[in-house]
Amino acid sequence: MPFSKANAKVLLAGRIFQTGVQILWKTGKILNRLLFLCANEQSTTMQAKITALGTYVPERIVDNHYFETFIDTNDEWIVSRTGIRTRRYAAEHEYTSHLCVAAAKNMVEENLVVLDDVDFVLVATVTPDQTMPSVATQVQDKLGLTHAGALDISAACAGFAYGIILAQGLIAAGTHRKVLVFGAETLSKFTNFEDRTSCILFGDGAGAVLVEAAAEGNIRAVVSGSQGDSGKDLYMSNLRKQINGVDIITDNKIHQNGRAVFKWAVNTVSSQMSVLAERSGIALEDMDWFIPHSANMRIIEALCTQTGFPIEKTLESISLYGNTSSASIPLALHRGIREGKVKKGDRLLLIGFGGGLVYAGLVVEWG
Ligand code: UT7
Repeated sequence: MPFSKANAKVLLAGRIFQTGVQILWKTGKILNRLLFLCANEQSTTMQAKITALGTYVPERIVDNHYFETFIDTNDEWIVSRTGIRTRRYAAEHEYTSHLCVAAAKNMVEENLVVLDDVDFVLVATVTPDQTMPSVATQVQDKLGLTHAGALDISAACAGFAYGIILAQGLIAAGTHRKVLVFGAETLSKFTNFEDRTSCILFGDGAGAVLVEAAAEGNIRAVVSGSQGDSGKDLYMSNLRKQINGVDIITDNKIHQNGRAVFKWAVNTVSSQMSVLAERSGIALEDMDWFIPHSANMRIIEALCTQTGFPIEKTLESISLYGNTSSASIPLALHRGIREGKVKKGDRLLLIGFGGGLVYAGLVVEWG
């Protein structure tokens, strides 16, 4: 083809176009890289902050005399051995997801927070409405949280603390910014009312916290651990007939070796209190409030005796609500706030422990 001026113009235009595309492509790559670096920069600096709390307990109050009508027990034994005076039972139509929704509504009312942009829901429970779907998905739907992932956590009475630790991880990773964490149970639906050593203990309730991404967080230290070889000491099963090679009852009710769990709880929690103090750089004596899982008032007293922590600086929910498993810590904290004990800036040491056996704890600077 003869070389003409027209051909030269077409070639030149083609080269200009090609160079333009290359420049655009390279600019795009640079921009992409910059965005990636910015996102990473953001994720390394983002911290988790607990910004709001809400709770709910069902209406029905059950006192200790109720049990005197069908098992060999009495109010005096229950109060002196556990510290429990009353507990709440969910209505027949009320399930764990309903308690969660009510706790979230309470959070909104008391804290004026907006939940529309929550991007993850974590529900710690061992008493889900059903095994599948999860309680978290039910809560996500009922609260209209259209942007939220949803996940249940099975860590028994340590579940609430585990939930906060996981929320902190999601926020620190830079993948999520607003996580709703629940500890909620309807234990009364899984209680063996023929077993006097356990049926007097349990109650129903729910607590929720909002954990948000912030330039400065308020979680100062965390700890977690487990001892799976003691699973047989506290369980609820309807399928497998053995745990740790030991035969178990498969009636889908809670069974507990109270003495074994009591001993483990006191030893484990007292040592983990020191670990949390060390990790947070806040001495035990400088903690304003200790909020252990409310399993038994005698466990709380034993922990204080063992560590020298003043009992007056502990918060409990056992006396009013019984053992509410994953809900017990937020219920105790809310009680402390309502009674004017917990103030902004107070240093809280929370530790949950229970079936697994499993534990988790954290130090939080409140507010
Ligand atoms: O939330 C998850 C973690 N769970 C815990 O941390 C629970 C830890 N364990 C406990 O809180 C306590 O072990 C219980 C409250 C479960 C039991 O208290 P205890 O002081 O350890 O009682 P025990 O099992 O050693 O029983 C002492 C006695 C027994 O009678 P004998 O054998 O001494 O004649 C029991 O049969 O008390 C009797 N007893 C009761 N008596 C009246 C057990 N339950 C009752 C009852 N009323 N409800």
